[in-house]
Formats: sequence, structure tokens, C-alpha cells
Amino acid sequence: MNLTEFRSAFPAFADGVCFLDWAATGLLSDPARRAIHRYADELVSCPSGESTWMHGVHGKTRSEARSVAGRLLCARAADVALVESTTAGMNAIGLVLPVRPDENVVLMSIDYLAVATPWKTRAAREGFELRWVGHREGLVTADDILAACDARTRVVAVSTICWTTGALIDLDTLAPSLRERGIHLIVDGIQTFGVVPVDVMRTPAAAWCVGGHKWLASVLGAGLLYVDPEIAATHQPSVIGFLAGRPARGQWWEWFSDPDSSPREDIEFPPAGRTWETGGTPSYPGAIGLLESMTLLDAVGVPTILEHVRELGTRLIAGLDHRGLSVLTPGEPDRRAGIIVFRVSGGGDAQRAAAAALREAGVVVSVRFSDGVGGIRVSLHGPNDEADVDRLLAALD
Ligand SMILES: Cc1ncc(COP(=O)(O)O)c(C=O)c1O
Repeated sequence: MNLTEFRSAFPAFADGVCFLDWAATGLLSDPARRAIHRYADELVSCPSGESTWMHGVHGKTRSEARSVAGRLLCARAADVALVESTTAGMNAIGLVLPVRPDENVVLMSIDYLAVATPWKTRAAREGFELRWVGHREGLVTADDILAACDARTRVVAVSTICWTTGALIDLDTLAPSLRERGIHLIVDGIQTFGVVPVDVMRTPAAAWCVGGHKWLASVLGAGLLYVDPEIAATHQPSVIGFLAGRPARGQWWEWFSDPDSSPREDIEFPPAGRTWETGGTPSYPGAIGLLESMTLLDAVGVPTILEHVRELGTRLIAGLDHRGLSVLTPGEPDRRAGIIVFRVSGGGDAQRAAAAALREAGVVVSVRFSDGVGGIRVSLHGPNDEADVDRLLAALD
């Protein structure tokens, strides 16, 4: 699938909206919308004459979604859990990695709440040290993070990109160095997954956590958790639900109708990431959305999307520079992905007023700050084109 076809999967563009806000809440792709509609339409009837048809049909959808996610991560489907959000993944892994009171966990002061919150809560409860890596005008290098680590560091938790500057974190340097030192890396990948290729062999981490409602163009409330097979083999998930396991006999539908079934029977929980799902009746619309939209992204090709967004970013940065606006995102294409952040003169109110004026002109962007750094955040994704960039620039004149 080429980029023009990809764009046509998002009807908002044909309706004249200049949508540049994937880093906030992305558009739902039309194939995902249609598939979820079909599901909803079937829920109001009883298409197969039995009330639990959806478990059979969409249990398969969930398996397929794990397979596509695995392909995009260069991992096995069995290493992937479908979870509610980035936060759900961050908690699933963050609550089970042991940290003793005399040890520490390293975070970035500019990072997102989903990364920091589980560790802040645990540190307050368990007494271990949190080390906050500062930034220079929003930039954090792998060396900054490594310099904060010592022999007592157990975990580093970071996002793949700074959500208020668009600067990529150099995970290719960071991840292998941490692994060598025996420090667990936890990655929040929501702001780059679907735009920047991932290979969990090249960028080893205990876990990757990704919500589906931004760059994956799916619905809110469904995302992915990849768990390193070694971690999954040696750690129990903190939440255990029956559907994440296998019944003692047959399939679940057979077990439920078997007079010998009892809750005292053992359930087998395979020691793999997939078992880290909540394990109650899951969100089928979430899985349907993820499968349809990730299949679309995969058909375009994540490397193609990355090359495209970097070209659009170069065009946007040149236009912003030309207008004398300050750009916080690194100029070098290989240090950025889809997020470009710039500022108009003035403080937070001036940024909000400028973003509101852009929205009036049909250009959708956000204002975001963290730890004093940020501005107007523009998100460029595969479906965007040069005309979107030019429309934003023209709206600033
Ligand atoms: C870096 C980062 N992580 C996570 C999230 C969202 O987290 P969740 O999926 O838990 O809502 C965002 C949303 O803005 C984000 O920017």
C-alpha cells in the first residue's frame, strides 16, 4: 500500500481537516471503524444463534493482533499481551521487578506520567531511591541516563521520544549498555510505535508498553505489552485472570459445559508475555481496532512511514525557521520521528492562543509542556502530506 492509499483510509482528510495531532489522540482508520461497526451490529442480534459467538470469533482476532504486533516488534506473538493502555503495561511490568530499599530506579525528569507514576508510588511505599535525570533544553542523551546509573540501579524506565520536544532517546546505545550492566530497561513506546521500526533483539528491554490510540490509529482503551521472554519465564505477572491461561481440559468453551469442571482445578499459565493480559473478558473492539490499523501500517511499512515523516519534518522545520519561530525538536532527521515542537513568542498562554487560532483555521495541533519545556506540538504521520505542512505554515502567517 502506498502513502496516498494510506491517507485515503482516514476520511477526515477528504473532509478538509488538517489533522496534525496523532501524539494526542490519533484518528481511527476507516477499516478499523468498519470492522468495529460490524462487531457492534452483530452484538445487537445473535448471528450464530448462540450468545457467546464473540469469544470464538474475536478470540481469533486477538491472536491475530498479537501476531501482527509481534511482527512489528520482531518478537513472537506469544511475547505480546493485549492490555488496556501504556499505563496498564507499565504497571504490569513495574509492579513485579524487584527493587530493594538500598537500590534505585532511574527516570527522566521530562518524561510522561505513565512512565513515572508506578515508580513514584513504589518508591514511596518501599523506600528505594528514585533518580531523576535532568535535561538540557529538553534534550537527554543515553550518556546522561547511563551516568545516573550505578551498581545499585535495578531499573531504567524511559519513553522512546520526549513527548514535549520530539527528540528521540538513543535506545540503540542505551538498551545494550543497560543489558550489559544487568539493569532492566522498561520502554514506553506509545509516541513512536508505528512510525519508528522496533527490533527487540537490537533494542533489548524487559518490556515495551504501547497504547493503541495515537500513532496506531486505533481506539482508546487498548494497547500492547511486550515482555522479554526471559523476564516472563522468571517473573509472575501481578494480575492473574483465568482467560490468560489454559483450562485443565480442552478449550474454555468445552470446559464451561463440562459437568466435571471446578474452580479448584489447575489452570496452566504459560510463562510468556501473553499471560500478562488481565485475563478477564477482554475488549474485543480494542483488539479489532488494533488488528485492522496495525495491518494497515504493516502494509505501508514502518520504515516507509519513518522516511516520509522525517521528510515532512524537515519541510516543517525549514518553514518554522523561515518565520523566525523557535523549534525545540532536533533538526537532524535521525534524531526525531513524527513529533515537531515549536514556540511562538510569549509564555504558555501565547502557545495556547496560537494553537486555538490554528484550530480555527482547521489545523489540529496541541500544546504540551513537561518540566518547563514544550510549546505547540505538531504530529506528522504517514497519512499526512506536504499540503498539510504548507497549510499549517500558511495558517501561522
Ligand atoms: C509518552 C507517553 N506515554 C503514555 C501516554 C498515554 O498513556 P496511556 O496509554 O496510559 O493513557 C502518553 C499520552 O500522551 C504519552 O505521551
